[in-house]
Amino acid sequence: MDLSLLAPDRERIAAGIASLAQNFTEGAQEGWTRRVFSDAYIASREWTLNAMLDAGLDAHIDYAGNVVGVLAGRNRSAAPLMTGSHTDTVHGGGRFDGVIGVIGAIEVARRLRETGTVLERDLVIVDFLGEEANPFGVSCVGSRSIAGLLTSTHFDRTDDTGIRLGDAMTAAGLDPSAALKQSWEPGSLHGYVELHVEQGPVLERSGSAIGVVTAIAGIERLMASFVGRADHAGTMPMAMRHDALAAAAAAVVIVEREGCGAPVHGVSTVGRFESSPGALNVVPDHARIWAEMRSTEVGWLTGAKRRVVEAIGIEASSRGVDLVLEWLNDQEPVKTTPATHDTIARAAGDLSLSWEAIPSGAGHDAAHLAHLGPMGMIFVPSTGGRSHCPQEFTDIDHIADGVHVLTTTLIAMDRDPHD
Ligand code: HGY
Ligand code: MN
Ligand code: MN
Repeated sequence: MDLSLLAPDRERIAAGIASLAQNFTEGAQEGWTRRVFSDAYIASREWTLNAMLDAGLDAHIDYAGNVVGVLAGRNRSAAPLMTGSHTDTVHGGGRFDGVIGVIGAIEVARRLRETGTVLERDLVIVDFLGEEANPFGVSCVGSRSIAGLLTSTHFDRTDDTGIRLGDAMTAAGLDPSAALKQSWEPGSLHGYVELHVEQGPVLERSGSAIGVVTAIAGIERLMASFVGRADHAGTMPMAMRHDALAAAAAAVVIVEREGCGAPVHGVSTVGRFESSPGALNVVPDHARIWAEMRSTEVGWLTGAKRRVVEAIGIEASSRGVDLVLEWLNDQEPVKTTPATHDTIARAAGDLSLSWEAIPSGAGHDAAHLAHLGPMGMIFVPSTGGRSHCPQEFTDIDHIADGVHVLTTTLIAMDRDPHD
């Protein structure tokens, strides 16, 4: 097969990315914000549905809010292939994170139909609901539902205002209890491949056009609450204070220390910090930090978690500050499937594109879809390695190369009975 015939339409991809960015974003802050359950996000689901229908897919929105499109294959009873990603963003995020995997998947379907390339098996394309971290502390809501990893306890998680995730889903017109029953069986997928921007500096630095992902980092998220004692900031001697904010600040440094110098890809961040009462002349009696630790190596992650808990505990007790720790998220590291990895690498080679193996420090829906069958990911370079910010950028030539590799990979997997 002449692979160049399946090359994607750059202008069409660019137009889809631009349309989502221009028409569906919250508020006036810099960058792009399309958070799960926001009006902008809910309105964008219709846009994605129509884009799939316009591409000739049989499409619907499922109980968990995933937009699901199907391109029928010759053998409807064969285990299908799946590809997709997400279109929700972080606050003040970019235009490409997740989006290129959805727009790119729709473009793959268009090119298959336009060239009369009929796959043996169905190709399922999904815009998964709510991939990003959210105030409920449950990321990847849609892909967990499809993978059978969403539980009723997730629905009981509340945001800062006390609203339950289940109620937020219901208010968005979804059906949480039905979402629990729509999961696919393990092994039911012939394979899952996701196209995504790298969101880091590796590919740009090395000049590789394509990243073939080796593993997706596990993510452990922690909320640490510190309770000290309010006192007059001018009269209480330093040695007699129980300063909750000072204990929390020491914890921030401990979290950063643990993420530095990891022998493998290991990182840690405190992304949110609160304290009260917030008066200049009162020793803070309450403070809270939200932290996360990530690694592709479960052993390092387990050890880092233990070291952080120990060190923060020692710090808090040395200040006479009470500490409550709550682990919010337990997303294990997931290795990609070697056969799928090799198929992607071959596809890049067949298209004369330079590629390199690369771990993903970012979490992805693909980590959950790995429960259903062989899984792989394709990265394209991020300019300056930036992401989750308005400066996030990947040029259309790189995106088009990624879509071309995705198309070629899916065709190869479709033909390989054992991929
Ligand atoms: O946080 C992540 O790694 C992903 O962007 N949701
Ligand atoms: Mn993403
Ligand atoms: Mn993201």
